[in-house]
Amino acid sequence: MHHRTISRPPHIWTVSLLLGLGLLIFALAALASPVQASPSIQEDKPSNDFCLACHQEEGIDKTLGSESLPVTINPTEFGMSVHGEEGIACVDCHTDISDYPHPDVKVKNTRDFTLTFLETCKECHEEQYTNVHNSVHQRAFDEGNKNAAVCMDCHNPHTQTRLTGKTSGQLTPSARLHIPTTCAQCHTEIYDTYKTSVHGNALTQENNTDVPTCIDCHGVHNIQDPTTITFRNSTPFLCAKCHTDAAIMDKYGISTNVVNSYVSDFHGATVKLFEEQFPGQPTNKPVCTDCHGVHDIAKVNNPEAGIAMQENLLIKCQRCHPDATANFPAAWMSHYEPSPEHYPIVYYVNLFYKIFIPTVLGGMIFFVLTDIYRRIVNRAKGTKHA
Ligand code: HEC
Ligand code: HEC
Ligand code: HEC
Ligand code: HEC
Ligand code: HEC
Ligand code: HEC
Ligand code: HEC
Ligand code: HEC
Ligand code: HEC
Repeated sequence: MHHRTISRPPHIWTVSLLLGLGLLIFALAALASPVQASPSIQEDKPSNDFCLACHQEEGIDKTLGSESLPVTINPTEFGMSVHGEEGIACVDCHTDISDYPHPDVKVKNTRDFTLTFLETCKECHEEQYTNVHNSVHQRAFDEGNKNAAVCMDCHNPHTQTRLTGKTSGQLTPSARLHIPTTCAQCHTEIYDTYKTSVHGNALTQENNTDVPTCIDCHGVHNIQDPTTITFRNSTPFLCAKCHTDAAIMDKYGISTNVVNSYVSDFHGATVKLFEEQFPGQPTNKPVCTDCHGVHDIAKVNNPEAGIAMQENLLIKCQRCHPDATANFPAAWMSHYEPSPEHYPIVYYVNLFYKIFIPTVLGGMIFFVLTDIYRRIVNRAKGTKHA
């Protein structure tokens, strides 16, 4: 610039110099504080309002390969979400976005897009992150199944509301009611079966939260393989959690003695003994689910599937006792405490012994005692006379 202006008249030279200086200062100022210069970003981190100004618009999409990803975010829903309520900013999770246009997205489908957020939750939810990383879902994922559940499959970060009470820390009843549908996204068949079971029917049709949802039996973030021996041997404890609790069971008139009577039954006794002697070894005796089913547990008096019906029960016995015929189950007392209605013979024989033995024994003791007494008295009389 100086070379070009050197031959010009002095006043033009001065004006040019001043103008150049001015431009230089302006350029330097702009370079020194680019944030201040951008009209769209006023603070050190972009506000939610800044993002939502564009993202609340309905019907906007991002094209990913041949798929299209809707990018509308409902500000009201976000405001009511747990993250909105807690004042978490868009950019706390979208750490790579600060302005528009956004950085290039390299993935070519919506699943791969979701998977770019695998580490997003770790910073604030380390415990859940660690548990998920020890789960059957993570194992399936590591083996190449990209459809195994990740955080975002079960939690929409923009609309997720509280699952646990802020002070209680306990799962809320409404969150509980929604769990099976969360799992149903992928485990459709199991959900359809569960829905018809005595447990699932009560939950989905009657909003009853006393019954188990998927996570009462499987856990949540640390779900383990339920087909292992350890899991199988632990099923009686799983069911016992509720089925020995009178506060729950009395409402339904269901016996809380089912676990005790199972353990005192020869099958249960052998499972228990076996588990104590050989923990973790497979047992060939039935556990609760062998007779009752798993996701399809029915009321025992349900005419189609209930196992109080001998023909339904026989099918279960035949899996291990292939030669069992129609009256085979009748030889076995199941959970029943013998009573005048159930197994009257056993009941009366027990009763007979309960009365007979004390009576006979008591009579004998009485006889012996009175005999001793008489002998002592007689001896005393004898010594007096002597
Ligand atoms: C000027 C309007 C505008 C602003 C401001 C804006 N976005 Fe976007 N954003 C879009 C549009 C349009 C798309 C969809 C396609 C595209 O990128 O052109 C998009 C796409 C996205 C996507 C999808 C994937 C991607 O990375 O492209 C995310 C995530 C996103 N925006 C987050 C944000 C966040 C967070 C903010 C605030 C820091 C923000 N946006 C601010 C218009 C905007
Ligand atoms: C708690 C973390 C978190 C917060 C806060 C958050 N996002 Fe997201 N956002 C994500 C994750 C994770 C995804 C990927 C979701 C997926 O693919 O299932 C995502 C995806 C998106 C997308 C792509 C479309 C979609 O729904 O998948 C847009 C657009 C977006 N976010 C905008 C925003 C805006 C705007 C805000 C603030 C109002 C915001 N996000 C707040 C975590 C967050
Ligand atoms: C910047 C921190 C931050 C990030 C990142 C974040 N969260 Fe959160 N999240 C919170 C806070 C704070 C709460 C409220 C926790 C509380 O009060 O117990 C919360 C609550 C939740 C809850 C409800 C918890 C409850 O007890 O009801 C879920 C579910 C959740 N986040 C999932 C996610 C997922 C999934 C991601 C990743 C996509 C994510 N969060 C990323 C901060 C974050
Ligand atoms: C297979 C579905 C599933 C996946 C995957 C999943 N969650 Fe959850 N999450 C749930 C359910 C269901 C609950 C409610 C159960 C409860 O609170 O006892 C929950 C509860 C939570 C809570 C509330 C506190 C707690 O631990 O109960 C937070 C926070 C959370 N999840 C974050 C995450 C994060 C972060 C990830 C990923 C690392 C993740 N979740 C993966 C289903 C899932
Ligand atoms: C996004 C899809 C998805 C969601 C949502 C999901 N799962 Fe899964 N789950 C999978 C995949 C994929 C596998 C591994 C494939 C397989 O082995 O069957 C799996 C495996 C499992 C297994 C082990 C199966 C076995 O044979 O070892 C259990 C148990 C399980 N999931 C329970 C749950 C529960 C409970 C929920 C809800 C809290 C849930 N899943 C939500 C996709 C999902
Ligand atoms: C009352 C306890 C209980 C409930 C409730 C329950 N499960 Fe299970 N689940 C089990 C047991 C026990 C097994 C192991 C069965 C076996 O050994 O074949 C199992 C097996 C599984 C398996 C792997 C084996 C298979 O059949 O594919 C998956 C996946 C699964 N459950 C998902 C779910 C989902 C999803 C729900 C909710 C809709 C659910 N479970 C509800 C107890 C339960
Ligand atoms: C060998 C098969 C078998 C095994 C193992 C078994 N049950 Fe049963 N169960 C039955 C039969 C048959 C009935 C119906 C007749 C009866 O009440 O004895 C029944 C009835 C029940 C009832 C209904 C009781 C009522 O008051 O209406 C419950 C609850 C129950 N069982 C739970 C369990 C639990 C929990 C376990 C494991 C600790 C278990 N069962 C193990 C066969 C079995
Ligand atoms: C979270 C608590 C809970 C767990 C865990 C649980 N149950 Fe139940 N179960 C219930 C409740 C509550 C009912 C009564 C539902 C109704 O009648 O509406 C019930 C009903 C039943 C019935 C029907 C009894 C009848 O009326 O004929 C059977 C059988 C049964 N459960 C077996 C099992 C078995 C086997 C397991 C373990 C694999 C198990 N339950 C685990 C809460 C539980
Ligand atoms: C999971 C397999 C399994 C199922 C299901 C099963 N049993 Fe058994 N049962 C056994 C085994 C193993 C023994 C041997 C026990 C021992 O010797 O300690 C046995 C023993 C018996 C015995 C003692 C007499 C004998 O044959 O040794 C009777 C009676 C019996 N079972 C009845 C039943 C009835 C009734 C059912 C159906 C309600 C049933 N069992 C279901 C595995 C099973």
